[in-house]
Amino acid sequence: MIKAGIIGGSGYTGGELIRLLLNHPETTIDFVFSTTRAGKQVTTAHQDLLGLTNLEFTGTINPNVDVVFLCLGHGNSTKFLEENTFSNSTKIIDLSNDFRLSQDAVLHGKTFVYGLPELSRENIKTATEIANPGCFATSIQLALLPLAKAGLLENEVHINAITGSTGAGVSPSATSHFSWRNNNVSWYKPFTHQHLGEICESLDSFGNKTGKLFFLPTRGNFTRGILATAYTKFEGSVEDAQNLFKDFYADAIFTHVSDEPIHLKQVVNTNNCHIHLHKHEDVLLVTSAIDNLIKGASGQAVQNMNLMFGFEENQGLQLKAGVF
Ligand SMILES: NC(=O)c1ccc[n+]([C@@H]2O[C@H](COP(=O)([O-])OP(=O)(O)OC[C@H]3O[C@@H](n4cnc5c(N)ncnc54)[C@H](OP(=O)(O)O)[C@@H]3O)[C@@H](O)[C@H]2O)c1
Repeated sequence: MIKAGIIGGSGYTGGELIRLLLNHPETTIDFVFSTTRAGKQVTTAHQDLLGLTNLEFTGTINPNVDVVFLCLGHGNSTKFLEENTFSNSTKIIDLSNDFRLSQDAVLHGKTFVYGLPELSRENIKTATEIANPGCFATSIQLALLPLAKAGLLENEVHINAITGSTGAGVSPSATSHFSWRNNNVSWYKPFTHQHLGEICESLDSFGNKTGKLFFLPTRGNFTRGILATAYTKFEGSVEDAQNLFKDFYADAIFTHVSDEPIHLKQVVNTNNCHIHLHKHEDVLLVTSAIDNLIKGASGQAVQNMNLMFGFEENQGLQLKAGVF
């Protein structure tokens, strides 16, 4: 059994990590650090864990854990690692965007590897620091990577992705307030969302020309999941596209191409990404669906931990969606 520590334990991704790690056969949770709840039961923040754990939040860390997950807002991971030291053998998995871009990937001589297993499984296996991808970034990259690798993404790509309110974290805000969010839909950060940087780095990593991405993020009036659509010019048939995607994801145990149109609830509460392909005239429409907190955050972090420690990649992640 390896020992895990969680920083930022009272937030949404922290809560999902606790839930996943409690059920992971190779892991024990050594501590859950919280700046606001030290000494209190974990269940005071995560009522869904009542009866599953007697863990208390701590105000101190154990620097000798085997793995630590940072579940902090942007900028706070760097600050936390500046102020706290872990043993040389502790592996670090950061869920923020502090280390995702190659220009930000080095801290104190340690290089964070971008943790999207479908893109860089072998590098993740030998990594000691992981920058876990963003949630929108995960859904959009999984929709576009096969085309980028095949050099078929040289035209403009139009992307729309709708996310649940948990994507914005546990602290209430004007746009996550029930009265505003319920029965409401709105876009934000049109064409400028911060995840475009990591998406473009991954698409460009194959060395092929990539067309301009036009990404419109949308806030949905539900709590969990991301449904992304992306369309671009494509000369082949839909069968060509399906074969391309199925080949690319042949070894991916969580990313699956569906012959049927997909919907969000079939992936919520799982680490899966489902993808559907549709051809209209000379345009290919790619749809992808993930759970923002699982494949888009804590589940992917556990998947990365499994790869780093040589566990089965799906250990602790065999989850069933609550479709009905
Ligand atoms: N939500 C998603 O769908 C999602 C998906 C992918 C990636 N991410 C990224 O994952 C990270 C965590 O997201 P989240 O949704 O879990 O956020 P969250 O619900 O807001 O939780 C973040 C936690 O960080 C701690 N914290 C807040 N301010 C802090 C500070 N100044 N210094 C130290 N700790 C502080 C708090 O926990 P304590 O009070 O217990 O210390 C807080 O509950 C973010 O960087 C986010 O962008 C989120």
